[in-house]
Amino acid sequence: MARPAADFLACTVRFPDGEPEAVTFEVVAEGPVLHQMVRCALRALPVGCRGGGCGVCRVRVVDGTYRTLRMSRRHVTEADEANRIALACRLLASSDIVIEPAPPVGPTAPPPSADGIPQATTGPVAPGRPRPTPPVRLPDRP
Ligand code: FES
Repeated sequence: MARPAADFLACTVRFPDGEPEAVTFEVVAEGPVLHQMVRCALRALPVGCRGGGCGVCRVRVVDGTYRTLRMSRRHVTEADEANRIALACRLLASSDIVIEPAPPVGPTAPPPSADGIPQATTGPVAPGRPRPTPPVRLPDRP
């Protein structure tokens, strides 16, 4: 029996400069957003360890309510958390949610904006960090 549509929430990944176009996929509240994005065969966010250890999937939650599983302070500080930064692989949506890729931490990270919110990465990406790729939608099965 199919699950009622109300069990699913919408997760939209948007990009600050509008490129690539925002992508929306369905998520369930019990599963990390990144895992569900991968399950949908989308590549809107970088995917690394999938367990909170590498930090490549940092995002800023622009809209919506959520909770997170335990995250490494190396990748998400308390100040980051206060600014709605999270790791997508540890992020559980509890409403429809809008997220943006967040810059990496460390010496290559751009300085925070005047309001203290880290700037999104729009220029060159630090070596060794995967760049978000445009979403790829698989054709519908016949
Ligand atoms: S994929 Fe490594 S921290 Fe999320």
